[in-house]
Amino acid sequence: MNPSDTAIQAFQRRFSEQPRYLARAPGRVNLLGEHVDYNDGFVMPIAIDRATYIAFSPAGADHTTLVAVDFNETAQFTAETLPDRKQPDGSPLPEWALYPAGMAWALDGAGLSTPAMQAAFASDIPRGSGLSSSASIEMAFGVAWSSLGNWSLPPMQLARLGQKAENHYVGVNCGIMDQFACACGEEGRLLLLDCRSLEYRSLPLPSDTLIVVADTSVRRKLSSGGYNERRAACEQAVRRLARDLPGIQALRDVSVESFNRLSRHLPVLVKKRARHVVEEIERTRQAIPLLEQGKTHEFGHLMNACHTSLRDNYGVSTPELDTMVEIAQSLPGCLGARLTGAGFGGCTVNLVAREQAEAFARSLGPEYEWRTGLHPEIYICQASQGAGLL
Ligand code: GLA
Repeated sequence: MNPSDTAIQAFQRRFSEQPRYLARAPGRVNLLGEHVDYNDGFVMPIAIDRATYIAFSPAGADHTTLVAVDFNETAQFTAETLPDRKQPDGSPLPEWALYPAGMAWALDGAGLSTPAMQAAFASDIPRGSGLSSSASIEMAFGVAWSSLGNWSLPPMQLARLGQKAENHYVGVNCGIMDQFACACGEEGRLLLLDCRSLEYRSLPLPSDTLIVVADTSVRRKLSSGGYNERRAACEQAVRRLARDLPGIQALRDVSVESFNRLSRHLPVLVKKRARHVVEEIERTRQAIPLLEQGKTHEFGHLMNACHTSLRDNYGVSTPELDTMVEIAQSLPGCLGARLTGAGFGGCTVNLVAREQAEAFARSLGPEYEWRTGLHPEIYICQASQGAGLL
């Protein structure tokens, strides 16, 4: 059953009525620009055709009641219990509920009304797979509250409130990319975001290619520290480099040339982390004209280089991700393959020549399974519309 029907049926079972509305928000894959959003760099994600769906209605009472179908659990909060991450009976909110609750908290903080709702939600974005299942929950609830509260915000503003929820309520120091892609996605198109100015535009996906997502089936937990540590290393690098480059705000302001000249002042590990970011931002700068000119082979090389750097410099790959990428890169039609999202497990993204994509997807899975003993999921994905009511 698809997740929208699952959400509707769960709503009917729990609340013994029909839901009034249905909201949807997609996941995302990022083609290039990894771990650069929190360094003011450029990212190139697409919203994918997998999503979170919420069936919902206004609640008669002051309690918001949430049914998470994928966890088979229910949680509640009120405006009073929300700031303490608690339920009305005093117990802590379960972890999955921090995303919707965090969204309510961020919206309240911005003076936007979040009337109590009853809701059931389900998703076909695997959790912890690097496809932004959490941002999609945040954005879907943002849409739900905007319809109940009778207000509207530009999608980028909703994305920023989602990021705030995640940073300050859930406790993950993420950048803006995921919420942005979930909120602003466009069908058939790739998004280009400048994470400093927050200006963005979209480009058609190259027509001679398809995007194949390969899930290693190894799950990660973003809040587990590795991500926040990487971010702290970048900040440390900026502080040290600023002694020689006064006025820099972020690694975005450091050219490859200056970095090469000054990096000897950095501790070894910090130097490797910062090198990834500085070079990755340079790759995204090179990638924009390549995409505009339809030079997909060259773009694919940048994706491959990105993976190597995420593995060797940034230290966020895993043996399974490396195996998936290595097999992909050896298959006919593969233009570029790399891990996508934060890393530490999850998925790879592959840019594949259109006519060879089916065969690519058919070969990749069995070969990976043979080498690792793990059962992966491989699928061709389409760029989809961002969050909205259905
Ligand atoms: C996670 C974060 C994003 C971004 C990526 C890495 O998905 O939520 O903000 O930093 O990792 O590019």
